[in-house]
Amino acid sequence: MMVFRKQFKFWVIVVALSVLSIGCAEQTGQTQLLGDGIARFYEPNVVIKNLPPSMSLEREPNVIGQVPAEWMLVPQFGIDKSGRRTAIMKIETGTSLYGTGEVSGKLLRNGYVTECWNTDAYGYNGSTQSLYQSHPWVLAVRKDGTAFGVLADTTWRCRIDLTKDIKFSAEGPSFPVIVIDANSPQNVLRKLATLIGKISLPPRWAIGYHQCRYSYYPDKRVREIAKEFRSRKIPCDVIWLDIDYMRGFRIFTFDPNHFPDPAGLNNDLHKMGFKSVWMIDPGIKAEKGYFVYDQGAAGDHWVKNADGKEYNGEVWPGMCAFPDFTRPETCTWWASLYKPFMALGVDGVWNDMDEPAIFNVKSKTMPTDNIHRGGGGLPQGPHAQYHNVYGMLMVKASREGIMAANPDKRPFVLTRASFIGGHRYAATWTGDNVANWEHLGYSVSMALNLGLSGQPFSGPDIGGFCENGDAKQFARWFGVGALLPFARGHTAKGNRDKEPWAFGKGVEDTCRTALERRYRLLPYLYTLFYEASVTGLPVMRPVFFTDPANMKLRSEDSAFLLGSDLLVVPQLKENLNQTTIQPSGIWRTVSLVGEDSAKDVNQPELKIRGGAIIPLGRVVQNTEEISLNPLTLLVCLDENGLAQGTLYEDAGEGYRNRNGEYLLTKYAARQDGERVIVEILSQQGKMPRPKRNVIVELITEKGVIKAEGDETKQIVINM
Ligand code: NOJ
Repeated sequence: MMVFRKQFKFWVIVVALSVLSIGCAEQTGQTQLLGDGIARFYEPNVVIKNLPPSMSLEREPNVIGQVPAEWMLVPQFGIDKSGRRTAIMKIETGTSLYGTGEVSGKLLRNGYVTECWNTDAYGYNGSTQSLYQSHPWVLAVRKDGTAFGVLADTTWRCRIDLTKDIKFSAEGPSFPVIVIDANSPQNVLRKLATLIGKISLPPRWAIGYHQCRYSYYPDKRVREIAKEFRSRKIPCDVIWLDIDYMRGFRIFTFDPNHFPDPAGLNNDLHKMGFKSVWMIDPGIKAEKGYFVYDQGAAGDHWVKNADGKEYNGEVWPGMCAFPDFTRPETCTWWASLYKPFMALGVDGVWNDMDEPAIFNVKSKTMPTDNIHRGGGGLPQGPHAQYHNVYGMLMVKASREGIMAANPDKRPFVLTRASFIGGHRYAATWTGDNVANWEHLGYSVSMALNLGLSGQPFSGPDIGGFCENGDAKQFARWFGVGALLPFARGHTAKGNRDKEPWAFGKGVEDTCRTALERRYRLLPYLYTLFYEASVTGLPVMRPVFFTDPANMKLRSEDSAFLLGSDLLVVPQLKENLNQTTIQPSGIWRTVSLVGEDSAKDVNQPELKIRGGAIIPLGRVVQNTEEISLNPLTLLVCLDENGLAQGTLYEDAGEGYRNRNGEYLLTKYAARQDGERVIVEILSQQGKMPRPKRNVIVELITEKGVIKAEGDETKQIVINM
């Protein structure tokens, strides 16, 4: 009995100690419960009401009460040797770390250090610690597949050190830490989205293919590119205009020789079924007589030096002034500039260089003691405080201007710099990558981690921005790039051409096939964007989402999922020696446009999950062409002979969907002896169901069995 008691005591102590060491630190500070499994922690002596408002949260959440004493995940606050405030969250062995926003290298972040400080990181590599965006957020998946997330809610320069535990160390004042606890990584992301918001549904054209280069000019070249796409029958929705359309890089102007008639150009593009996206940078040439500068100066809209005078820094046009987007008056003025610009038929806006990037200074940005004057709830503060949100505040103002200019259209903005929560205003791309195999690999891991940090709409410069690369690499990149949420080809000035046809017939065929696959998948992708806008779940997901408790899947970052039903298995290595860990269960290979990914290494293998129904359209050249007649339903039964899937449809533009003009259809399939019956399980929305033919393709072990019919009745497949 005595022995038993002693042992019992021993184990109680061991358990108590280990609980403490994995994070159940004493709650010494101030705590707030913000929701089910969502807690906010402050340092003990902080006066909460004196802290600046959160820039990551969509709105200030309601405080339900204090965090209960039994809450396990408590950050430990402190100060390090360099005077930075720290917050440490201990992790158990077997915890896998993800997120941290836009980061190069591997998907799995254990061991990495990321410095949140938005940086013009031209030609970055796998060990670059600061890229263009800041997401002081870590998603942690425990050994058993349950998960938690930690957000250091500070805009200041902040290091995320994942070499041992989760350690944030930030300049500036004390910062709150938000902790989310859930039974799965997916549920952590759902809860995160209740705090930082979700994307609003983009216009449908934005999920088509985009063609860009630095720069297509003069306007004749833009028309040529557009015509090439159509004559070669390569699907494409958008042509991009980089800085050379401007007059001497002055934003909101047009080069009179190269772009004398931008409205005419946009009109011609529209007639061919293209949209156009035009670049606007934050740097405004400091030149009297230039209308944007004059207006900005008259309105006192500029960021100031520490001595209170107008700050000027060098970018493309020479010395520039920079709008102070912390000021509501400045945002209103900035937004107003878009009205005449959008009236020229511009469809989307590309905000670049918004870290902000400054040339010829060591820091690559403006001095940290520059002054942002704030207003409307934001306090005046130094650039050190607002640097990481400069880009986000800029695209927020741009978006407001675009929406005011075109109130009946959905805005599309692309930004290079951003901050956690920035997905509310703009899509993003992964900046100036390099045409090499390493970067081809990052295309997948970077977009995945952005998705795990709240940003579902991202992708790389397909084919690489810096350097030429070669045909083999380009073809491989295009195959996978065409399947990422944001699919845009782009390359730097002086590089060889990188349009789909630029590497000759063989590569052109590869690109066409890759894009035809994307266009067939658009109904599914659009449904995933809709899901992201409702739940906050990313469009592109890591393979470990299929089974978060399976440790073997945790570092898989060549393959990925689109939604939960389609597994994409690309070959990202030049020598094809990649080993991909695939999820267990039924996953069957599908061919969308007659391609055979077993023979064509450039086309990633696509596998449908057993239990899923995936909606497909037909191949179209752009998203204005009606693609859902016929509608194809790929059906793959699970071990119980059942499958389900969803299709979201609306006008693809505008806001009538918010008044119920959409159609959300749930399809179900079930095996009944030798027959499989496919039918509509439920529907929502008041958009009339289009009259269309439905082709069901049942993907079985032995092959594909097809049936055709009217979706309002049962469609029966005889096996
Ligand atoms: C830098 C951007 O990252 C790149 O995509 C763009 O082409 C150049 N700026 C020129 O505008």
